[in-house]
Amino acid sequence: MSVLQTSAPAQLTLAERYRAVRGFSEQLAAPLSAEDCAMQSAPDASPTKWHLAHTTWFFETFVLGERQGYEPFCPAYRYLYNSYYNAVGNQFPRPQRGLLSRPSLAEVEAYRSHVDAEMNELFDSGAFGCDEEAQAARVIEIGLQHEQQHQELILTDIQHALSINPLQPVYREGDFLASGPAPAPRWVAFDEGVRTIGHVPAAEGAGFAFDNESPRHRVFLEPFELCDRLVTCGEYLEFIEDGGYRRPELWLSLGWAAVQEHAWRAPAYWRRSDEEWRRFTLAGERRLDPHQPVACLSYFEADAYARWAGARLPTEAEWEVAASAQTTGAPTGRFVDGAWQAGEAICPRRQDGVTTPLRECFGEVWQWTSSSYSPYPGYTAPDGALGEYNGKFMCNQYVLRGASCATSSSHARLSYRNFFAPEARWQFSGLRLAR
Ligand code: AVJ
Ligand code: FE
Repeated sequence: MSVLQTSAPAQLTLAERYRAVRGFSEQLAAPLSAEDCAMQSAPDASPTKWHLAHTTWFFETFVLGERQGYEPFCPAYRYLYNSYYNAVGNQFPRPQRGLLSRPSLAEVEAYRSHVDAEMNELFDSGAFGCDEEAQAARVIEIGLQHEQQHQELILTDIQHALSINPLQPVYREGDFLASGPAPAPRWVAFDEGVRTIGHVPAAEGAGFAFDNESPRHRVFLEPFELCDRLVTCGEYLEFIEDGGYRRPELWLSLGWAAVQEHAWRAPAYWRRSDEEWRRFTLAGERRLDPHQPVACLSYFEADAYARWAGARLPTEAEWEVAASAQTTGAPTGRFVDGAWQAGEAICPRRQDGVTTPLRECFGEVWQWTSSSYSPYPGYTAPDGALGEYNGKFMCNQYVLRGASCATSSSHARLSYRNFFAPEARWQFSGLRLAR
């Protein structure tokens, strides 16, 4: 059970990758009780049990259900575990997912086993060798990438739920974020010019990407500078101590309204006790480490901090151009598969000894950009239910780049566009400054 192998899709067969990714979801749920798995602490967060079932529903609906003679495990699940696909049908209301005491966790596990057995039969039949099945193989790959997205949500949602408990529960010992002295920040300059961003077409040998990462297209960038590392907790504390949360001139209007409405005084999970700042983490409550990258910020907080610091957030094009100058081959950084294995015993400073000018492009925290989550020029959503996956959310959200300590290494890529509403702050979301 200790071996975690979710690495590069190219090195594993689809069947091997399926087993690895599905198994990792179960590893993530293993430290949790059935009661833990049923909790929903916010309308936007879901119970672990729901994530385990919904990711299974995805394969059942979009892979098995498309094939002759498949009988659904339980017909009611079509409704219960449909997240938002109107083409599939109505959906059980998201804010009430925590009210589902049934099916039990054991029944959800049986559902997973059933679908896994059916999927394994498909793999064993050798069906995916031929051209007619290329589309089915693509849908399975989407299902795996989808499950990896939900693996990250399992962690961020359970952190939110456990944070409410005064017993300060520990999900797992060992911080997901690295510690150790943060190097002094340096600005790295990039030239102006016409640059190309977006997913390199698969025809040119590139791996998987979601539809929202295409088409690849040109952008014009003015000269810009990016900070070579992420903003730390210690730096963010200076903003707090300088009255950051009390000065409307530092905030966007909607951001200032959110500060008032939610009485924000610090990032999510920060707590003040006896003149000491503490932070609730998946390893329980710990003293704030000023060297760690600041995490669990809303877009509004990231934007206000940047303004206070005399800088700004990067655009997603700036981020991708800068990161592409550093990245050859697979992204490196502190990811969940690495952190899971390393625990606290090995807690190296992020990418120490890296000689390229930009550190921490991937891992640690997702990086807010100033870019609205909008379609790239020429984008159209795919036909069918899976066309609802990304395209219909391209309004009122902002793009985050990189990856986090809750992301799997095989899920991170240069062109990845994560997105959340500007007030969302329960993800591992932080920032890198630009100017
Ligand atoms: C890209 C993280 C915003 O949380 O809904 C899960 C990921 N998409 N199932 C989300 C996702 C479909 C998505 N985010
Ligand atoms: Fe989903």
